[in-house]
Amino acid sequence: MEQNRALVILILLIIFFFPDGQGPDRSKEAINEIAHERYSLDVLRNSTFGHPGNLTGLLTDAPTPPGQVREKWRGIRAKLLKSFAEPLLAKRGAEVEEVLRPRKSGATVYRNATGSVLGRWKKQEFPDLPTTAQSNVTYPSNLTALDAGKLMLSIEDTTEAAKESGLVEVKMALRIRDEDGGSVVDVMLNGVHFSETGEMVAATTSERFAGIFALPHFMLHEKEYNQSKALLLPSIEKVVEKMEATRYMDAPWLTGIDGMPLSEEPQCEYIAYIQLHPVDPLFEHRPGMHTDTKIIMQEIEREMRFPTGSSLPPPPPLEATVMVYSPNCGVVLVADELEGQKVEPFYSQASHLGLGAAAVAALQIWILIRQMNDSNTLSTISRVSFWTITMMAVVDGYFFFTFMIVAIFLRACFLPMVAASFCYLMLSAVFGMRFLVSTYKVQRQSAPLAPAAPPPPPPATAPSDGLPLPATAVPQTPVIIPPTATATAVTDDEVNAEISALHTRFYFALIAILFFSLHAATWPPFYRDILVHLVLLIINSYWIPQIYRNIMRGCRKALRWEFVLGTSICRLAGVGYIYLYPGNIFHSATNPMAVFIIASWVGLQIIALLVQDIFGPRFLIPSHSLPQVYDYHCPLPATDEEAAQEMGTPTDDGRMRSFDCVVCMQTVDVPVAGAADGRDGLLGRRGYMVTPCRHVFHSHCLEGWMRFRLQCPICRTPLPAL
Ligand SMILES: *[C@@H]1O[C@H](CO)[C@@H](O)[C@H](O)[C@H]1NC(C)=O
Ligand SMILES: *[C@@H]1O[C@H](CO)[C@@H](O)[C@H](O)[C@H]1NC(C)=O
Ligand SMILES: *[C@@H]1O[C@H](CO)[C@@H](O)[C@H](O)[C@H]1NC(C)=O
Ligand SMILES: *[C@@H]1O[C@H](CO)[C@@H](O)[C@H](O)[C@H]1NC(C)=O
Repeated sequence: MEQNRALVILILLIIFFFPDGQGPDRSKEAINEIAHERYSLDVLRNSTFGHPGNLTGLLTDAPTPPGQVREKWRGIRAKLLKSFAEPLLAKRGAEVEEVLRPRKSGATVYRNATGSVLGRWKKQEFPDLPTTAQSNVTYPSNLTALDAGKLMLSIEDTTEAAKESGLVEVKMALRIRDEDGGSVVDVMLNGVHFSETGEMVAATTSERFAGIFALPHFMLHEKEYNQSKALLLPSIEKVVEKMEATRYMDAPWLTGIDGMPLSEEPQCEYIAYIQLHPVDPLFEHRPGMHTDTKIIMQEIEREMRFPTGSSLPPPPPLEATVMVYSPNCGVVLVADELEGQKVEPFYSQASHLGLGAAAVAALQIWILIRQMNDSNTLSTISRVSFWTITMMAVVDGYFFFTFMIVAIFLRACFLPMVAASFCYLMLSAVFGMRFLVSTYKVQRQSAPLAPAAPPPPPPATAPSDGLPLPATAVPQTPVIIPPTATATAVTDDEVNAEISALHTRFYFALIAILFFSLHAATWPPFYRDILVHLVLLIINSYWIPQIYRNIMRGCRKALRWEFVLGTSICRLAGVGYIYLYPGNIFHSATNPMAVFIIASWVGLQIIALLVQDIFGPRFLIPSHSLPQVYDYHCPLPATDEEAAQEMGTPTDDGRMRSFDCVVCMQTVDVPVAGAADGRDGLLGRRGYMVTPCRHVFHSHCLEGWMRFRLQCPICRTPLPAL
């Protein structure tokens, strides 16, 4: 059964992930398309500036983008560059002259823009913007209905800079969102990057829009047109030749940044103009440092990419201004304060995160091992809640998969991510699972069999004050289940079969959760946020099953305090990182409220455990609705003559009785019931324990003894587990 299910899921995964083969029909289609690409390439080769010719999706008689849009970008860019130069000149006078003099061609920018920036966009109103696309059909797009939102741009420089022009081919993922971060547009653009000046022009390419072939025509000046045409012609030529040879459509402008084919939904086409902001040319001067900003920036970039440990100023942030124009939907968006970072600092941050996660997981492994050493007897292990351990193991297993996937996709951080993933694997599948299995085994074998052993009704002769009867009388046997009483319990084989099913279920649950979370990532942000917060609350409820088990079994001290506190803190650390640290790697906004709620929720559970430890597991819980368990801390009656003889010597004031504790050979004082000073109260009674066979011990003595034997140290009567 389990195997069949596994097979079905495996087959589904294969169908899902493997590309379908190139059938004969597909290949014919591909030949047509490749011929069309060849045609478009020739059109570009024979075109002159301002006359794009017969390219898919473009009008031949109107410039794309139209004049107003070009003017707009020219204005934005000039204003931007001026705004960077002016304050510097004004503020720093002669010094600036000194620093700026060696620079000939404008401001200093990052030459390699591989990285990502994000910020806000605003729609620009143009009174009568002509459409410059052949089909002026406006596709149903949410974008045209919005006025502002958030924008994220991931840039990747894919080739080395060309010799004379310094031109680089660039690929970028543009993500335009509404105010709340709802998914609106997710497109891939290809284009060119003038690495000297930091300007980029890129466009989408699809069956309806030959963006990459028309790209040189989107330039504002003829010089740039010639430079970009010189760069693009040979590179497109190479791709088309390769496609003609393999008959496979794997052009870089048709695949996403991750190499996956793009979805073919009707959408707006986009042309993006980007200008990187110049960096502040006045770095803090250090001895031995070059005074030319350009050279310092080159050194910084080299140091980021190939770290040697040389002393340089910290890398400035990556900032950009973007204008996005859609020729067929007729919208113009401007985002002028995009901020982000180059990919190298991001990688090092991700690596630190991976190492931090590995350290936290290793600490948890250590705490867990100490707890497992502590819970190594039947009596102690049967107190531990199976579900508490399961919840932790599932969450850790999820972290294992997550770090594994990140390690595969983020090659630059492979080692730290694999280390984190390995630690979580150990924590979840090795130690967590072992603890889980031993807990399950013990509890399954000693589980009460309801029909076979119903709790006997309290004997009719039982004194009304709840005093346990002497061992000679009918013993008050609540639910005494000696762990060895397996005569009627399940056999080892059955338990082993159940345990292997448990493993299977565990891993399938993990995979199911993984796929569900991938799916949930595409939900609208409102529902996604609700889900995330709900899930955070649920996975941080791991002490609840333990509290419940303590109540139902009347036991306490199942887990060491070191384990409870250590695990809680380690697990809250991740929440703290995401919601309290503003520079977190997920760019998520800080949310101290969420941290407060989750931390209080965990704190509340810990307090519940503490109260159970001090006042007894059923403190404040009405006991009539719970299964009956033997109360070791029952009060002693004051006026029971027979018992009085048997039960120790009264102290002088008659309020206490003294017994000898055979474990530590010291006397134990027990307040009698009804003592006027209230020393028979809840706390007073927690100092001693009375066994069902009416022997009295110090609590800590008998608890220590019962970790190893569930027998009375005096008369060897089986004792109910704590
Ligand atoms: C433009 O190209 C399309 C297909 O690429 C072709 O069908 C059409 O005839 C061409 N138009 C002109 C005027 O060359
Ligand atoms: C574009 O839209 C205008 C009206 O807005 C219409 O007159 C024209 O025919 C359309 N052009 C195409 C190619 O559909
Ligand atoms: C965005 O599009 C989706 C469907 O694609 C639609 O359900 C939703 O209402 C749209 N939102 C806006 C603001 O237009
Ligand atoms: C830019 O930097 C990235 C990340 O270090 C690197 O992968 C890429 O090759 C660089 N591109 C160029 C053109 O140097």
